Amino acid sequence: MSDVTLNTIQDQANQVESAFAEQKSALAANPSAKGVEELRVAFLGRKGQVTSIMEQMRNISKDDRPEAGKIINKTRSKIESAIEELKAEAEEFLIQQKLDQAPIDISLPVQSSGAKGSLHPVTLMRRVLLKEFRKLGFTVYDGPEVDLDLYNFSSLNFKDDHPARDMQDTFFVKDFDKTVLRTHTSNIQIHALMNQQPPLRVVSPGRTYRCDSDLTHTPMFHQIECLVVDQNISMGDMKGVIDTFLKAIFGDDLETRLRPSYFPFVEPGGEVDLQCVSCRGKGCRICSQTGWLEIGGLGMIHPNVFEAVGVDSERYTGFAFGFGIDRIAMLRYGLQDLRQLFEGNQQFLGQFPIQP
Ligand code: PHE
Repeated sequence: MSDVTLNTIQDQANQVESAFAEQKSALAANPSAKGVEELRVAFLGRKGQVTSIMEQMRNISKDDRPEAGKIINKTRSKIESAIEELKAEAEEFLIQQKLDQAPIDISLPVQSSGAKGSLHPVTLMRRVLLKEFRKLGFTVYDGPEVDLDLYNFSSLNFKDDHPARDMQDTFFVKDFDKTVLRTHTSNIQIHALMNQQPPLRVVSPGRTYRCDSDLTHTPMFHQIECLVVDQNISMGDMKGVIDTFLKAIFGDDLETRLRPSYFPFVEPGGEVDLQCVSCRGKGCRICSQTGWLEIGGLGMIHPNVFEAVGVDSERYTGFAFGFGIDRIAMLRYGLQDLRQLFEGNQQFLGQFPIQP
């Protein structure tokens, strides 16, 4: 009944092992994951050579079966572990091949693709804005982004318990007492007035920080602050400046409106709206059906601010306004999401021109 003996099994196992050894060394010259897998299927797969010895178990006498099983298992596990080693070798071989290929010389000059680069939309917008302010006789004043609470809040007439100082809005600088990332460019009102007695006509673009992030807010954003202090400065002067530069950017036919609002450092205070650039006042999704877009805060300098910096509030009056540069860029260039400005996506950024 049993025509297969232990010897036959052993012989076959030996044959399979030597066949395997042969194919293995053929593969060693150029190990690849694909080659290893083919080898595994040829020996351990369902129709593989090891499997076909196993199939002979049923033709072997019961007494010999355990021993035959051992022989086959030994061969199987030898081949299995050899396959594992081969897999690792193939992987290493691939890595080595890649390393041996022409290495990247990072010191070589970049081959020009003909692209000349472009300005970031915020930079672009800032330059456009500054150009308009220079035409009106303003000088650019630069202020610190990391500042004392004193200049960002207290001197600007923010009471100690004003909600704007809350953790939710303000980034406090760790381990530095009363130091904040400025929440607005209005801190330059204080720095400019401490630095220079009126008359004064300055504009200050820069980064500002608030703990906020959604479609229309990013934790870092840009503002541009405008400050004018002189004798007999009125709200009419302010409206004139605002209208002039908004018209220069958005065209002549859009109207602006001033609306009362509260900021502790101005009295009276307000906000300026621009007729919606998209629907021109009819009401659409962009302007939430109001026909108007909010551009920024403004007002006449509060006497307490003049007092904080030692300017005679009986003699001088002044105005200030602060607008979001990113927001103006968004409206001017028709952007959908403010965060696009800060993602560094080349395809998006490359659409903008190289100069204003
Ligand atoms: N600093 C105010 C803000 O960021 C805007 C503002 C500037 C209001 C100047 C009045 C005058 O919200």
